[in-house]
Amino acid sequence: MRKNLALLLLIVFSSPALREAAPRRQRTLREAADRIGILVGAAVDPRHFSEPDYAGTLAREFNMVEPENAMKWALTEPAPGQFDFDPGDAVVSFAEARQMKVRGHNLLWYEHNPKWLESGQFTPAELHGVMQRHITTVAGHYAGHVFAWDVVNEAFDSSGVLRHSIWFDQPGIGLADKGTAYIEQAFRWAHEADPKALLFYNDYAAEGINAKSDAIYAMVKDFKQRGVPIDGVGLQMHLSLGDVDKLSSLDANISRLAALGLQVQITELDVGLPITSDGQPRDPADTQRQADLYALVARTCVTSPACTAFQTWGFADKYSWIPGFTHGARGAGLPFDTQYQPKPAFEGVLNAFRSANRRSNPTR
Ligand code: XIL
Repeated sequence: MRKNLALLLLIVFSSPALREAAPRRQRTLREAADRIGILVGAAVDPRHFSEPDYAGTLAREFNMVEPENAMKWALTEPAPGQFDFDPGDAVVSFAEARQMKVRGHNLLWYEHNPKWLESGQFTPAELHGVMQRHITTVAGHYAGHVFAWDVVNEAFDSSGVLRHSIWFDQPGIGLADKGTAYIEQAFRWAHEADPKALLFYNDYAAEGINAKSDAIYAMVKDFKQRGVPIDGVGLQMHLSLGDVDKLSSLDANISRLAALGLQVQITELDVGLPITSDGQPRDPADTQRQADLYALVARTCVTSPACTAFQTWGFADKYSWIPGFTHGARGAGLPFDTQYQPKPAFEGVLNAFRSANRRSNPTR
């Protein structure tokens, strides 16, 4: 009798139909993301890797990391021609030991540059050489370890006009009257240095359809048509609760980029809430509104095969750039709280991943 019961249980629980009907519920973002073939990432600071909860949460919940600052120019080339790869290498070692991918950020930006560069009074010919050396050396150093780069960050202003910058026209690298040619040059050098890396243009406030995202679309369309090596567009997504309207055209924006054969990655998501002086949301109900916004972005991403990564800027409210950036006005913007406990935003993303019906391979 007991033998029969055991046999019956064996048959029932090994039946494919039953397993299909009751799939195991993934408990972590990483498990749920792995099931649907999407990358789920967080921006990290290697100075916190020695904190067990920081490292443990990262390895459990994410299959990708991106250095929040460690690969920016000010850290990688603090003096002309002198490169420091220690902070960035720490991110790579952490990730590789935990089978996580590394997204590189960034090779060229108008901000976060060292003083020697900002106030160097270089001629265009000199700057051309400085830019080439930097991109070639940094992308070359990380070849085989960084699977994707934000090659150029934030080149357009909100009206879709190219920002003034040392690279473009102050004085520029010799292409000041040629629009996006300096950006194209950056992509070409990055591709030469690491032909296997996926190359992205990354910007903020260009999530839905607006003047800035139109300008980005026009640029990447032109790049694709002329064979400039570009693989995707990063949508930063530094959001506030009021941004929900702007997201109504997120899907359309992702679709038009996908139609060009480009990937889209959500690169820097956070949803800053109005906070009290001790960092708590002013209105406790905002935490659920925040979760709804996270879920909306996650659902939109997972329903588009072109959206290959979903990443937050940090992951726990203990360390987030938002309170500093907003002078204490906003914060509590991430899916884990200051004690690394999951918030409703975490559940929102997890549920969006769990209920997604896709299987794609984001990396080549
Ligand atoms: C921010 C970092 O989070 C801060 O620690 C740093 O002081 C400034 O840069 N867009 C980007 C990121 O592409 O690199 C920025 O990161 C946030 C806005």
